[in-house]
Amino acid sequence: MLKKRVEEALNAQINAEIWSAYFFLAISLHFAENGYPGFAARMRHQHGEEHQHALKLIDYVIEQGGKIELQDILDIPSDFGDPIESFEQVLVHLMRITDSFDTLLGVVCDEKDWATRAVLDWFVLNQVKEEAEISQMITSLKRMSGENGFYIMDADLAKKC
Ligand SMILES: [Fe+2]
Repeated sequence: MLKKRVEEALNAQINAEIWSAYFFLAISLHFAENGYPGFAARMRHQHGEEHQHALKLIDYVIEQGGKIELQDILDIPSDFGDPIESFEQVLVHLMRITDSFDTLLGVVCDEKDWATRAVLDWFVLNQVKEEAEISQMITSLKRMSGENGFYIMDADLAKKC
């Protein structure tokens, strides 16, 4: 059984993950519309990952007898700029999600809810991996800066996705 504060904090995180899924879908569409199929495919893959994160947390709340309250999905951006600016927005977004996990963990530790703490370990480490990947992508894009560099990186990702 979840304590009320933990249930509320998990609900906030679930809604943040659903917002995140839409954010990645929006940026995927931005890349697709601007001729970057590789970046578009990578961001669409991330859209699916974020959706799965939300479901994983939803399943846990249900298993613990809690209630899910879905909120409206508001203010999804549509202006992302060039690929470097776009991935910089992705990194800022991921860091905000990491912050919200830190807030959630604070509540969970205050309430001594060690089961939820164990569930969250995977998410915390996954954020580290995701931030590192996007940071590396920004570094590579800056190193190869310009349309030729964007084309090479996009084509490389298109092969992997
Ligand atoms: Fe996520």
